[in-house]
Amino acid sequence: MHNLYFLILMLLVLPIGMQAQVTFTIDQQDRQNTTIAPVNPTQAPFYHGVASGDPLTDRVIIWTRVTPTVDQTVMVDWEMAEDVNFTTIASSGQVTTDTSRDYTVKVDASGLSAGTTYYYRFTALGVTSTIGRTKTLESTNVNQIKLGVVSCNNYQAGYFIPLREIAKRNDLDAIVHLGDFIYEKGASSTGDTNRLHVPIVEILNLGDYRTRYSHYRLDPDLQEAMRQHPFINIWDDHEVANNAWKDGAENHNPGEGNYIDRKLWAIQAFFEWVPIRDNSTKDVYRTIRFGDLIDLVLLDTRHVARSIQVDSFLDPNRFDPNREVLGPAQMSWFKGQLSDPVTTWKVIGNQIVFAPAFANNVEPLQPGVRDLFMDLWEGYPPKRDTIINYIETNLIDNVVFVTGDIHVSLGFDITSNPLDSLAYNPMTGMGSVAVEIVTPSISSDNFDEKIGAFSTQILTSLFEVGNPHNKYVDLSKHGYFVLDVTPTRTQGDFYLVDQVQTPVALESYGGGVYTDVNTNHLNATNTPAPPKPVQEVPAPPLVTSTQDIVPELLLLSAYPNPTNGEMTINYALMEQGPVNIRLVDLSGRMVGELFERRLPKGNYVLRFNLEELENGVYFVQFETERGVQVRKVMKL
Ligand SMILES: [Fe+2]
Repeated sequence: MHNLYFLILMLLVLPIGMQAQVTFTIDQQDRQNTTIAPVNPTQAPFYHGVASGDPLTDRVIIWTRVTPTVDQTVMVDWEMAEDVNFTTIASSGQVTTDTSRDYTVKVDASGLSAGTTYYYRFTALGVTSTIGRTKTLESTNVNQIKLGVVSCNNYQAGYFIPLREIAKRNDLDAIVHLGDFIYEKGASSTGDTNRLHVPIVEILNLGDYRTRYSHYRLDPDLQEAMRQHPFINIWDDHEVANNAWKDGAENHNPGEGNYIDRKLWAIQAFFEWVPIRDNSTKDVYRTIRFGDLIDLVLLDTRHVARSIQVDSFLDPNRFDPNREVLGPAQMSWFKGQLSDPVTTWKVIGNQIVFAPAFANNVEPLQPGVRDLFMDLWEGYPPKRDTIINYIETNLIDNVVFVTGDIHVSLGFDITSNPLDSLAYNPMTGMGSVAVEIVTPSISSDNFDEKIGAFSTQILTSLFEVGNPHNKYVDLSKHGYFVLDVTPTRTQGDFYLVDQVQTPVALESYGGGVYTDVNTNHLNATNTPAPPKPVQEVPAPPLVTSTQDIVPELLLLSAYPNPTNGEMTINYALMEQGPVNIRLVDLSGRMVGELFERRLPKGNYVLRFNLEELENGVYFVQFETERGVQVRKVMKL
């Protein structure tokens, strides 16, 4: 028989009456009017935008993700210039990316000048990306640094309005992200908005972590903040699972598989999707030096060494000196960083609240309430005292902890015994060894969203009375603070929004806290720190692509490929309409059921299992009114 006839026969005749072996399931959002992170078709194939991170004096990481229409190795050119028109190219190069790194692109662009603003872009598959802005660190005579400090952008909890606002600033040297860059839970677990997680399930494996990062990185506000500023990221717990410690997490049970596998997948996806500089041990604790002004010392209080949390404030194990937070290696490194005499200030990028404040014998927090804070340094007092004593006995001045995780704005003097009037004077700061400024969440729930506005007001007053070392408290707003550092003063200025439940809101100045050099004592202020003498030129607005061939259906990823069974395909439907999905083998024989449904526009995850099929090549066909898209998958 002629081959072509055979093929046509296979295609037309054999599927009829043949039992499909593979069943599809699709993550579908049931809620009406769901706002799924939109894919901006004009950005093809760089749908996830561009970003930069970990600036040094001569280099910076630049990042993008390419989404090809077929799995292939993609060549990516990059270039950096000192002007938005790219008249003089300062540095350029070419890299490749492929499925092994989820088509993410991370370049350590070197040979740059210190203290310089750069603009960068990528070219792949014949298209040039939007332009990003970044900046290298100053090396000498550093007189003023401004850092945005952010944490906790839960997609389901609200719009990323503070990120939209911070993107408009032209006075930041970098943004420090203290973690909870993604949240791991499934779609129905939180959220008063219609912003739902993709995938809808709790993420447990590499494919799901990658899909969740992809979903977050499609958010236009997150994209814009990362396009306009270099980010310096550390992770907190939700990059793996809630209340994580070294070998487990509150939100992980044995039925969800091996925790260490899950953690390693989460770490892999983080290093793929976040513009952090790679290192062989995949650690996030590191120091970034801003000339002779600041050592930004970033910690990992979560995943390297932390011992399991105690359940109760009264559990005597809380005082076990062997329970770890940083672990011996990181602790000895941290002490070395604190003792290094080069910079005036040590800014400590830290996940969890350091100051004692929630487990003191102070009303209003009853023991049951105090138990909720055992995930903070509060749950590990001997290790916290080790650090406080080290700072005190070595006469180290000008240590400023900057902290995330707790979703509220706070400021503290740091002392072991804030209630002991002989050891600490809240007016003069006598007895305080360092200070701490806590950033509110970008969108994650804070107190008024959990216990209501009235109770939050009462709690705020009681918190102030019960914590004399507390210098700033706001338990109900979202936002960020700008850390302004000069040789004589470090100030944190809060920029807050009332709510993130609706897409429109503007920030307002919420006051600040400052510490003068060598005082180790925090004061409140209502005057923002002085502006920078020069405002940077922003990266130009997103260009509208001239490409008019935007697919009706966009395949974002297929994991894992090759596979020995389970397969997950993430696709975005750009317009509402019928979608038919089938799986065929090399000969065209249909082996996966025909899936026919009218779907609203959105971001979907298709799951199926090839376990029952023989090894070989298969094709998933997505048919819409405007054509067919095919993804080749391999069963090994
Ligand atoms: Fe958080």
